Amino acid sequence: MKNILVTGGSGFIGSNFIRFLLSESSFNGRVVNVDKLTYAGNQENLTGLEEEFPGRYAFEKKDICDKENMRTIFEKYDFDAVCHFAAESHVDRSIVDPDAFIMTNIIGTYMLLEEVRRKKDTRPVHFHHVSTDEVYGSLGENGFFTETTPYRPNSPYSASKASSDHLVRAYGKTYGLSVTTSNCSNNYGPYQFPEKLIPLIIENALCENPLPVYGDGKNIRDWLYVTDHCRAVWMIMQHGKRGGMYNIGGQCEKENIEVVKTICDRLDDMRPLASGKSRQELITFVKDRPGHDRRYAIDFTKLKNELGWTPKESFDTGIEKTIKWYLDHKDWVERVKSGEYRSWIKQQYGD
Ligand code: NAD
Ligand code: TYD
Repeated sequence: MKNILVTGGSGFIGSNFIRFLLSESSFNGRVVNVDKLTYAGNQENLTGLEEEFPGRYAFEKKDICDKENMRTIFEKYDFDAVCHFAAESHVDRSIVDPDAFIMTNIIGTYMLLEEVRRKKDTRPVHFHHVSTDEVYGSLGENGFFTETTPYRPNSPYSASKASSDHLVRAYGKTYGLSVTTSNCSNNYGPYQFPEKLIPLIIENALCENPLPVYGDGKNIRDWLYVTDHCRAVWMIMQHGKRGGMYNIGGQCEKENIEVVKTICDRLDDMRPLASGKSRQELITFVKDRPGHDRRYAIDFTKLKNELGWTPKESFDTGIEKTIKWYLDHKDWVERVKSGEYRSWIKQQYGD
């Protein structure tokens, strides 16, 4: 694969993926990043790549739902593969206003698949679809999601991702397109927008603001450092079975309250409060999210056995790197929180 279209490359995981790919010895081609630059997309996440990798990175500010623009992009660049990250990704927003989720996550995926279908006989393009473990719904106290777990999405976000997963599968089966899908657990790391749990708590704890924990704080997520996710996606794109679906997880189940307390303790060590107080005192239990999934946990045996992937980062090392990154990039946080994000928060919660 020499010429790859990455959609949503200006977001959290997409930007980490592009950096990862351009630095990989197994890839010496070009990446074209197509991103609409919503509130969650920032060109700043990819600053310096054109200079660092001359001729190997291009950016197109485009909406994947725009059929004509997608046609032009596919004609302009001679892609070997698509790695599809572009999505509306925040569950809380999908509950308040599902519209953009239906458009981008479902219609946008369909538009891309149609372009790949159109090229099928003249220029076969591999399509990798980046999805989530949330399509499986919620687990009880025991068990893990496997690739054969039935889909039971509970939020408009996860329902829109489930829908796009089905479209990808159907285009593979019906039209014989070369497709792969990965369903990954919760990611954390640099460049994550500070509305998701980990960067939000880091930011609030630094500013000595309340740390909102939904419900009883005992919901469980399986945390994965973003670079481990990127490495898995690249392995699947290259070596995954065509038509295959692969679960990716961190083997790292944690209750939300444990994650929040860990961040408080790390920050107290790195940046003690002048008052000498513990940041855990900032923890505030708030009203639960409607339809809040209780537990996610991934069984990634298939990916391990077929492709030899396992996560390299532990939660201890990953959270340390992440906190340090946010400490060193306070200006980035300020910038991404201005503008559209601030007006959304104001609209929902007032000043
Ligand atoms: P993100 O919200 O940080 O980034 C999404 C990017 O997509 C942004 O740059 C945004 O501008 C772009 N985008 C949105 N709508 C677009 C449109 N119509 N056209 C073009 N670009 C558009 O999301 P993320 O956390 O980086 O997630 C990336 C992908 O990974 C998503 O598909 C998500 O479902 C999946 N995923 C995320 C996680 C996680 O923990 N964050 C876990 C598993 C899977
Ligand atoms: P989030 O980062 O939104 O990811 P997802 O909903 O896709 O799993 O949330 C992770 C967990 O943290 C989830 O159980 C909801 C919870 N949460 C809070 O308790 N407080 C918060 O302020 C946020 C954003 C999330």
